[in-house]
Amino acid sequence: MDTRLQQNAKEHLMLHFTDMQSLVEQGTTLIDRGEGVFVFDTDGRRYIDGLSGLYCTNLGHSYGEEIGATAAAQMARLPFTTNWTVAHPEAVELATKLAELAPEGIERAFFTSGGAESVESAWKLAVQYHAANGEPARRKVIAREDAYHGVTLGALAMTGLAECREPFEPLGVPAVHVANTSPYRHPEGADPARMRDALLAEVEATIAREGAETIAMLIAEPVQNAGGCLVPPDGYWAGLREICDRHGILLVSDEVICAFGRLGTFFGADRLGYKPDMITVAKGLTGAHFPMGAVLISERVAEPFIEGRTMYMHGITFGGHPVGAAIARKTLEIYERDGVMENVMANESILRGSLNALRDIPIVGDVRGMGHFWAIELVRDQESKLTFEGPAAEWLLKDVLSAELWGRGMICRLDDRTEPIVQIAPPLVSDAETIGEIAQILREALEVAAERMSERPELTAA
Ligand SMILES: Cc1ncc(COP(=O)(O)O)c(C=O)c1O
Repeated sequence: MDTRLQQNAKEHLMLHFTDMQSLVEQGTTLIDRGEGVFVFDTDGRRYIDGLSGLYCTNLGHSYGEEIGATAAAQMARLPFTTNWTVAHPEAVELATKLAELAPEGIERAFFTSGGAESVESAWKLAVQYHAANGEPARRKVIAREDAYHGVTLGALAMTGLAECREPFEPLGVPAVHVANTSPYRHPEGADPARMRDALLAEVEATIAREGAETIAMLIAEPVQNAGGCLVPPDGYWAGLREICDRHGILLVSDEVICAFGRLGTFFGADRLGYKPDMITVAKGLTGAHFPMGAVLISERVAEPFIEGRTMYMHGITFGGHPVGAAIARKTLEIYERDGVMENVMANESILRGSLNALRDIPIVGDVRGMGHFWAIELVRDQESKLTFEGPAAEWLLKDVLSAELWGRGMICRLDDRTEPIVQIAPPLVSDAETIGEIAQILREALEVAAERMSERPELTAA
């Protein structure tokens, strides 16, 4: 335990989404270095990076030297120039490569520094696109309940987690939320076709209620993270595409998590088979070796800007940073060179099998996901799907499971912003052995949690 660093952390750090009282009382884990799919704290303890940092260390932690050499060369050549009026070769090459990899129709990239900036940039593009086409009233966004799209003010309005939004309301971007695609909780969840029809009918009804002429875009993740890897039913995205086209609404695929291999393909839209008007990306674009994002734009959306009918009133100093662009290019090269997409596709059935094998543990309600993107929903009772709430959820996740998982050397996410879930998203370069280790740690920790839960009937009393 490095007491000087711990003391300085307690005195000087303000952490993100963190209970600061517990930081000040207990200190925190200081992650010091990484190797492969593992990270090590300042005491030398090893952890599996089971959430890929925050769904971003797609290549794990052993490409730093190679990518660092690329970064060093770019820094020596040109540490910075802007994407305002001028450009630089790395931004051009990266935009060209992204257009090559992206779904058909997506040809252009606007670079940002991260996910929330990408989401807000997409909204501004949508608003200006419609205004240039004579529809200035189109400003609203349709997003989905519980979905996380970032927490800067514009992205926050789209985020469907009320507890994140409410302290800051009213927010400047008008947004309405429709149901997400949780089959486990949806009344029609047992019948995917009926569930799909019900979800799409709700989108239609929302458009009718709000007025299509006021809606700029619909934003959704291919597989929604918050709520626990909500894979949509077949035909859902085709339905969204058709509805958006019929009502003149732009369809934005928020792939801040799902792009660059999380689902086994460069883009989630390709895995699920749809063609969005815009795609927002960040995280895996550089494998987290640099903070960088982008909004990828179809020619149709770019048209009024290219034809000179309007000018995009938006810019970010570090958007398209040359060092970030060089790192992103190198990262994309490694994804292709080292067969990263193929590895995820090969691992998918191993992950599915080994996580589904945990269903015999009484608190495991549901297991869902695809690629390297999985969630386990925890329940008080498998039969009735009764969930844990309030103090029970907090005790289970924070006091018991967190300690059991960290104590066994695994980092993953325990989220009680919706029904309690354990989220597992290992680096895309993980092998079968690591997946086996993850499943074994989960089994041990969940069995302990189920046992301890059964000893606390007062927490689960209905
Ligand atoms: C789907 C999605 N969109 C947007 C964001 C916001 O990204 P950032 O934290 O880089 O602003 C996130 C972050 O996790 C995300 O998961």
